[in-house]
Order: sequence, then C-alpha cells, then structure tokens
Amino acid sequence: MATAAQSKPSIPPEQADAQLAMFARDFRKMVDRERLQARELEAANRQLQEYARDLNRAYQEERKRNRQLEKARLDTVFMLISAGRLRDEETGAHMWRLGEYSKQLALELGLDREEVDRIYWAAPLHDLGKIGVPDSVLLKKGKLTKEEWVLMQHHTTLGAQLMEGSTSPYLETARLIALSHHERWDGSGYPQGLCGEEIPLPGRIVMVADQYDALRSERPYKPPFSHRKTCAIILEGDGRSRPEHIAPQVLEAFRKTHSEFDRIFQEFSDEKVSQEGKGRGAGSLVPSQPPA
Ligand SMILES: [Fe+2]
Ligand SMILES: [Fe+2]
Repeated sequence: MATAAQSKPSIPPEQADAQLAMFARDFRKMVDRERLQARELEAANRQLQEYARDLNRAYQEERKRNRQLEKARLDTVFMLISAGRLRDEETGAHMWRLGEYSKQLALELGLDREEVDRIYWAAPLHDLGKIGVPDSVLLKKGKLTKEEWVLMQHHTTLGAQLMEGSTSPYLETARLIALSHHERWDGSGYPQGLCGEEIPLPGRIVMVADQYDALRSERPYKPPFSHRKTCAIILEGDGRSRPEHIAPQVLEAFRKTHSEFDRIFQEFSDEKVSQEGKGRGAGSLVPSQPPA
C-alpha cells in the first residue's frame, strides 16, 4: 500500500522556479510598500513635530500676552488702591503683609500653587471698596453711629462690584475676598452673614490675616499689640474676637504658622517698606513682577 508521502505529486522544477520568482516579487513589493509607509510616517512625524513647535511658540506668546494683560489689569487696580489708601489708616505695607500672611496660610492648608498665587496677589485688594466710603466715616476717630457703620460695611459689596465681570482669575479671587473677608465662621459677620463653608476659602484666609495685622498695628482706639498677645486673642478670644469666628482649619493653620506671621510683620514693617521700598514694589503699590 502506498504512503501519503509517496502519493504526493511532485512539482516540476520549472514550475517551482516560477513560483519562487513570484514569491520573491511579491516579497519585494511588500518590502517596498513597508519602506514607503515608513517614509510617509517619518514625514508625518516631522510635520507633527513642527506643528507642535509652532503650537508651543504660539502658546508661549499667548501666555506672555496674557501675563502682560494680567499685569496691566492688576496695575490699574493697585493704582486705584494707592489712591484710596491715602485716605485710610491702613498702609501700603499692610496690604503686602496681608498677601504674605495669606500665602503662608494657603500653603499650610495644602492649596495648589496656582491658588496660592491667586490668593497672594488678590489679598492686598481686600479693602478696595473703601475708596467709596466717605472720608467723614473712613477717617472718623470716634465711635461710628449706626448709619456710619452701615456705610463702612458697604466697602465689602462695593469692592466686589468694582471687580465684577472680570475674566481675570486674580480679580475674581480678589472679588470673592473683598466680599467675604468680614464674614465669620459662626455666621455673625457681614455683609451677608454667611456661615461655615458658605464663606469662600480665600475670604476665610484673609479674614485671619487681616485680624492679625490689625491687632499688631496701632489704631486710634488701641496701641499695637505684641505677637504673643495677638496670638492669644486670635487663638483664645478676648470677648470681642472669638475663635468661633474663624474657620477651624484656618485657625489650625494659623496655630502652626504664627511665628512666620511675626517674621513677616517685622520684615515688611511700615517703616522698612516706606524707607526701602521693600516688598512687591510697595513704594508705588504696583507689583514689581507679573503673576506667574
Ligand atoms: Fe475690610
Ligand atoms: Fe485690611
């Protein structure tokens, strides 16, 4: 009986050669096609890289333009403040210290770099609305009447109105701060009597920074307090100020970083800032560098 191998018909040598030649042609065609595709891919890759470089250049230029625009916007607002503060007991140095304190708290609270930057640049604008408060109220040495107190409280909503509608994230943060830096965690603040988490975080932060600096500074109705006394008032209360006014996380952040507050107060003292022009262009109140 014949085996399978024996029964398989053999291919004539000429036919085998022709088949091999055909395979070789097909193989060459396939290799050529692959090479062509590889070249096309390389060209596409080069084009993509060039496109990415163009995009990156356009992005960098746009970013630069945005920074210039942002700086121009902030310069305008700082100039407004510069005019406004001439009528107020709060100094230019106070505004820059507020940015520094607020940055400390924001970092301690673990906020991301961009938010820390926004708060840093926006905090000095917290009292922008004071430019709309009459001198008779703003500069009054004695106790304010009920009507005068209402006018004074109006600086929060006025400041927010002045910055409303801006597409700038810095001015939007500044608007939130202007509106909410006198709100208290227990709802006893103004202008809206917001409570707890209803108060925007930047406002909760600046509220403590502003309180610290006001306590350390001389006012017509009080002498400047030491760092120790100021901390005791903020952390334990004194009848007028109570720890319940402050957001618990912010109070905790202050407890951990208060020695930095003392350093900032010394480093950016009113005297040093006015003598040396220390800080972010504090002499003119125009920041010496644009926001990142
Ligand atoms: Fe204020
Ligand atoms: Fe202030």
